[in-house]
Amino acid sequence: MTETPRGWCVTPSTGIPTIAFGNQKGGTGKTTATINSAAALATRDHDVLAIDMDPQADMTKGLGLGPGDDNDPASPKNELPNTLVTDDENLLDVLVDNPRTHDTSLSEIVIEADEYDHLNFDLIPSHKDMGLARDWMDDANARLSLKLALEEMVDDGYNYDFIVVDCPPDLSVLTDAAFIAAQNVFLAAQTQATSRDALDDLWDQLESIEDNQQIEIAIVGLLANMYRDDGQSQKFLNSFDESFASMAPIFKLPMRVAIQRAWDNGRDIFGWEDANDQQVERDLFLEVAETMERAFDKTQVEA
Ligand SMILES: Nc1ncnc2c1ncn2[C@@H]1O[C@H](COP(=O)(O)OP(=O)(O)O)[C@@H](O)[C@H]1O
Ligand SMILES: [Mg+2]
Repeated sequence: MTETPRGWCVTPSTGIPTIAFGNQKGGTGKTTATINSAAALATRDHDVLAIDMDPQADMTKGLGLGPGDDNDPASPKNELPNTLVTDDENLLDVLVDNPRTHDTSLSEIVIEADEYDHLNFDLIPSHKDMGLARDWMDDANARLSLKLALEEMVDDGYNYDFIVVDCPPDLSVLTDAAFIAAQNVFLAAQTQATSRDALDDLWDQLESIEDNQQIEIAIVGLLANMYRDDGQSQKFLNSFDESFASMAPIFKLPMRVAIQRAWDNGRDIFGWEDANDQQVERDLFLEVAETMERAFDKTQVEA
């Protein structure tokens, strides 16, 4: 592990800084943080790959590549294909097959940013079949599947400055595979008492992965999401500070309607022009991006 001014980060075997956005609680902002951190890094001229490990596919939908929007025929989502139902090979095929011995590789299913005007980074979309993962991926190899698939992708000649992985809202084998591949975890939590317990469980999970796999996993940040300037938020932050602040920076994001509207329209917040001012959320995710650059010693690429 490399010591950074605020803690630790790990460069995985691919040599590419990789960050998994996790928390087994749903609705805490994992997907929001994954999409918009990727977009902020891309805005700062980095080549970024985002991987949607969640069978619910919120990131894929939030980038407009899921079903269109029946309620809003004018939504830009309606002009884009629904990649969740394609008959072609998908992420489950990559994860279930051992990528060293089988055919499907990440490079065959990646959607490159160049293919669509609105995409600011490459995407490995989720797929409706991903719901089967829990039944099919029950052996030790499954936990290593994403790590091996990423190594293969790099062998195939793909190179990125950063890879971000959106985890499902559980501690399933998919989440383990994401944590093992990334070795860096960015937590997204709401500043409530129940979040504290969820983070304790997550911590135990990380320790058990570290023991079983003989690897180290770093916490590289916490998004204190839907932060309010009140006693409850402050109490959560104080308790988080006690346990984690020495190792990871905390980013406070208040409730912002434009975040939801960008998602509804299949855009990240940098590619979406809202009626409301978006400076707060854009500044915050640019700060996340700068922090990741510093942590992994990847300075902004000169345009
Ligand atoms: N700071 C925020 N302000 C407004 N809406 C938000 C904010 N963070 C998340 N949301 C919305 O809340 C919902 C849950 O967030 P999401 O990122 O999908 O959580 P998770 O991936 O942890 O389940 C989404 O509809 C998202 O657009
Ligand atoms: Mg999500």
